[in-house]
Amino acid sequence: MIDASIELADIAEEAAREAGAVAAQGFRTPGLEFQAKSSLHDFVTEYDRRSEIRAREVIGARSPGSRIVGEEDGETGGGDLTWYIDPIDGTSNFARGIALWGVCIAAVVADEVVAGVVFDPIAGHVFRADSRGAFLNGAPLRAEGMTAPDRATVLATFPPAKDLQRDREEKLETLARLQDTYSHVRDLGSAAIAICHVAAGWADAAFGFGIHPWDVAAPSLILRRAGGVYRSYGGGEELPRRADHLNANYCGTVAGADFPLLDTLMRLQTRPAAGALA
Ligand code: IPD
Repeated sequence: MIDASIELADIAEEAAREAGAVAAQGFRTPGLEFQAKSSLHDFVTEYDRRSEIRAREVIGARSPGSRIVGEEDGETGGGDLTWYIDPIDGTSNFARGIALWGVCIAAVVADEVVAGVVFDPIAGHVFRADSRGAFLNGAPLRAEGMTAPDRATVLATFPPAKDLQRDREEKLETLARLQDTYSHVRDLGSAAIAICHVAAGWADAAFGFGIHPWDVAAPSLILRRAGGVYRSYGGGEELPRRADHLNANYCGTVAGADFPLLDTLMRLQTRPAAGALA
């Protein structure tokens, strides 16, 4: 008997490949239009919408009657199985021609992510997780990398723009602490691609704030199945693992990483009144 998570991952992969092919048609198109969504830092293009429509068509055909939650078109359907669709994670990169974006599709049953795919059509990378493990184009993934801070590359959008407006000095000081402590700090502009880089051992940690379930459901499973660690935070605490794809703040690392500053930063940043690092 085929494991249900493998079947769900097959559907996720087909949907991600199809949607990714649609999105790729728009990548680096001269004159591609993009609109600001929630702020000047948050874009949407017609290809986000087209990609989500295609993903919904595939999922609707292969998994009729399930609940679908997509970044662009919201929630439809119902039932015990939920699909999360991010039709282009990294839209700001996509809109300007930076090849760091991907389509994310995840299947969730009883609050648990059971299958996930992140497809980067430009690199030709299919990151996939199901009950058997995590894979990149079919080859097993291992989240093995640098475990000491002074050797580690950390991927993050930090400080978030809205925090800079609120606590500018404090956030810049925290950024300086990060830069002093870790070998490199980078912003890839796509939470999903960043977490998949950690799952592949191409980077050592990724963290972010104010993200959505469609951004992290698939890559969080990919990282865990690759042997890495995925944690979420809120209210100044690390949150329980159950349904943690619903939490807005995450930190993922390679296996065996000892990065105490990141844990401190996540707790401080997510406190109701965020404080400074001691
Ligand atoms: C965004 C990206 C970005 C992260 C934002 C997300 P989108 O997703 O993942 O890296 O910092 O929080 O919203 O809007 O490009 O799908």
